[in-house]
Amino acid sequence: MLHKFCIAPMIDYTDRHCRYFFRKLTKNAFLYSEMVVSETIVYGDKDFFLKFDGSEHPVALQIAGSNPKNLSYAAKCGEDFGYDEINFNLGCPSKKVQEGNFGACLMNDMDLVEDCLGSMIKSVSVPVTVKCRIGLDDDDPYEVLPAMIERLNSIGIKTIIIHARKAILNGLDPKKNREIPPLDYDLVRLIKRKWPELNLVLNGGINSIEKAKKELNSNQYDPDGIMMGRAAYIDPFILTNIDNVFYKDKKINHSRFDIVREMIPYIESEIANGTYINHITRHMLGLFHGVKGAKVWRSYLSENAPKRKSDINVIKEALIKIEEIQKEVA
Ligand SMILES: Cc1cc2nc3c(=O)[nH]c(=O)nc-3n(C[C@H](O)[C@H](O)[C@H](O)COP(=O)(O)O)c2cc1C
Repeated sequence: MLHKFCIAPMIDYTDRHCRYFFRKLTKNAFLYSEMVVSETIVYGDKDFFLKFDGSEHPVALQIAGSNPKNLSYAAKCGEDFGYDEINFNLGCPSKKVQEGNFGACLMNDMDLVEDCLGSMIKSVSVPVTVKCRIGLDDDDPYEVLPAMIERLNSIGIKTIIIHARKAILNGLDPKKNREIPPLDYDLVRLIKRKWPELNLVLNGGINSIEKAKKELNSNQYDPDGIMMGRAAYIDPFILTNIDNVFYKDKKINHSRFDIVREMIPYIESEIANGTYINHITRHMLGLFHGVKGAKVWRSYLSENAPKRKSDINVIKEALIKIEEIQKEVA
C-alpha cells in the first residue's frame, strides 16, 4: 500500500524543495530523493545532501555506488537522517555513472550487487530497495530479469522498482534511454506472477493518473504500485488526485492558488536561511500547466526569481498576475 503511487527519483529535480512542494499536493505518495552517490555522503556535507523537512515522509533516499563499505556508511547516514527507505540505483545509464562503475552497468555484475546490498542491509533497519531496468544492451530481458530478481529476493530485497525498459549503455544518452528502448509491462507482470510475495513497482511511461490506474487494475498479476517521473514534474497539480484514487484518503481540495500561498511561509523561512528563491520556485513552474495564464506564471518566475534571489515578493507578484488573468477569464 505504501508504494501504491511513487514519485520517481530525478536528479536535479526531486530535491528537498521539490519534495516539500509535492507534499502539498499529496499526503500519501511515496517520494524519492535524487540519486546521491555514496562517496558524496562519505566525504561531502551530509546536511546539505541529506537534510529534509519532516513533512516529506514517506520519503526514500536513493543511493548509487559500488563500494560496499561506502554504501553501508551512506545508507546508515540516510537512516540516521530519518529516511524511511534506502533505495539502490541499478538503473542510471549515463556515461559518467558508468565510469564510476555504478547505476545500470552493475546489473552485469550481480556478485558485486549482492555485496553492496548485503552491506547496506546489515547497516540499517529501514527497508533497502532496488530500482533497476529490465536488462542491458543485447540482453534478453526474459532471461536476465528473472535471474536478477531471484538473486535479489534471495538476499532479502522485498521491494523492487522496475523501469520497464532496457538500458542501452553504449550509444544512447540518458534522455534517449528514457524514450527509445521499448517498454515491456508484460514482463513486469510475469515477474509478479512468479514472485507474488514481492512488492513490485512499475515505472516508465506512466504519464497520467488514468494510465496509472489502468496499470494497477488490469489483471491479477498487476504490480503493487506504480512510479511516475516526468509527468509529475511537468504537471504537478495532477498529484492532487493521488490520495483519493490510490489511497482511499481525502483528496487535497486546495486550488493552485492555495498551494502557492501555502508555499510562501516555507519559502520565506528558506530565504532567511540563505536559500535562493529560484531554487524553490523552479519546481513550481508547472503548477498552472494547462490553465489560462500558465505562460505568464512561468515566465514571470523564470525571469525574476534568478535576479531577485532573496525577494519573497517575486512569487507574490507572480501570483497576483495569474490571479488577474484568471479573473478576466471568469
Ligand atoms: C531529469 C531526470 C532525472 C532522473 N534522475 C534519476 C535518478 O537520479 N535516479 C533514478 O533512478 N532515475 C532517474 N531518472 C529516471 C526516472 O526515475 C524514471 O525511471 C524515468 O524518468 C521513467 O519514468 P517516467 O516515464 O515516468 O518519467 C531520471 C529521470 C529524469 C527525467
